[in-house]
Formats: sequence, structure tokens, C-alpha cells
Amino acid sequence: MRIALIGAGNIGRTLGGKWTAAGHDVVYGVRRPSEAGTATVADAVAGAEVVVLAVPGAAAKELIASLGGDLAGKVVVDATNDVQGSGKLHALDELTGGAHPVRAFNTLGWENFADPVVGGVTADLLYAAEPGVAMDTADRLIRDVGLEPVWVGGVDAFDVVDSVTRLWFTLALQRKLGRRLAFKVLRDS
Ligand SMILES: NC(=O)c1ccc[n+]([C@@H]2O[C@H](COP(=O)([O-])OP(=O)(O)OC[C@H]3O[C@@H](n4cnc5c(N)ncnc54)[C@H](OP(=O)(O)O)[C@@H]3O)[C@@H](O)[C@H]2O)c1
Repeated sequence: MRIALIGAGNIGRTLGGKWTAAGHDVVYGVRRPSEAGTATVADAVAGAEVVVLAVPGAAAKELIASLGGDLAGKVVVDATNDVQGSGKLHALDELTGGAHPVRAFNTLGWENFADPVVGGVTADLLYAAEPGVAMDTADRLIRDVGLEPVWVGGVDAFDVVDSVTRLWFTLALQRKLGRRLAFKVLRDS
């Protein structure tokens, strides 16, 4: 897949490294492109099938608004958490018609994306997306990071996924269990 990663920090570089290793064509959309593999945000988005938002949460809504119709037809994965804001953690409500939103890669610290085996067990990644291209793309991208995808639901489940983020923050940071903390859903099959 051709993936535009908007933001080249902890999350962007970690996910981008995994997807490049898995054979995807990754371009980083950044504000000051200079290195190989980087482009302006607009150019990165224009050439991509999948756009992954990995910027500070406070910048995500404005970023989506500035891209507007350029996101039409693309799968847009929001990995951002607006932890300083007073509203929703995600920015996907700002998307206009024609884009395929995915809420994923926001519920665990980046260290667990770099190494998804935690305590000897492959971690789950809970995500939400509508069935079809959004869900299929998310499932593949999660597996290509080395995590086990667990589908929580469609767009109505974005806030449920975000409740997992709040649980991660509470356990890892407030209860001081540490950032190498992840989740596993257990069930009889
Ligand atoms: N860190 C984690 O463990 C973790 C886990 C899950 C989700 N998240 C979420 O993922 C997002 C990124 O976190 P991070 O730790 O990767 O942050 P980070 O290391 O600070 O990287 C943020 C990146 O976004 C870029 N950026 C900032 N504003 C931008 C804008 N308006 N347009 C384009 N690029 C912009 C920055 O580039 P410049 O050099 O231009 O400033 C930088 O490359 C956050 O929303 C965070 O809540 C983080």
C-alpha cells in the first residue's frame, strides 16, 4: 500500500519503519521536508491510498480541515490523542465525505508498536472502522506491525476505542505500571 505518514516523531517513525519492512511504500508528510522519504504534507497525501495522522492531538483537527477534499477516497487512520483538549481524543469527526476513517494505533505507547510482544505474548490492538476498505486496510496494517487486530466496531465505536486509551494512560502512567503495558482479549473460540 502507498502510505502517507503525517508526522515523523515517535509514532510516525515507528509505524513507518514497520510498514516499510513489510513492503509498503511509505512517505512522511512533514512541515519542512529535506531528508529522503519526506515530502510536504500535501504531496504525501496526494500520492497515497492510506493517510495516517501522527501529529500532536491539538494539531489534528486543523490538519484534517486544511486537507479537506484531498482526503476523499482515502483511508484515514487517526493515531492522535488530544489529551490536552476537553473534547474527544480523536479528530475524525472533522473528516468530510468520501474518506474512510479508522481509529487505531492510539491505545498503546509507541514502544509496544516497536516490539509488540509484551510479557511473552503478542499484544492485541483494538480498533474501529466500518466494514469494507477501512476495516480491511486497518486489519492488514495492524498485522504488519506485528500486533493482533481486534475489531471493536464501526464509527460508533471510536469512543469505545478511546476508552481503552484512557485505561492505558491510567495504568501505565498514573498507576505507574510502566509504558511496556498492553492488552489481550481472551475468549473461548
Ligand atoms: N508517543 C506515544 O506513545 C503515542 C502512542 C499513541 C498515540 N500517540 C499520539 O500520536 C501522536 C504523535 O505522537 P508522537 O509521540 O509521535 O509525537 P512527536 O514525537 O512529538 O511527533 C509529532 C510529529 O508531528 C509533527 N507535527 C507537529 N505539528 C504538525 C503539523 N501541524 N503538521 C504536520 N506535522 C506536524 C512534528 O514535526 P515538526 O518537527 O515539524 O514539529 C513531529 O514529527 C500524538 O497525537 C500522540 O497523542 C502517541
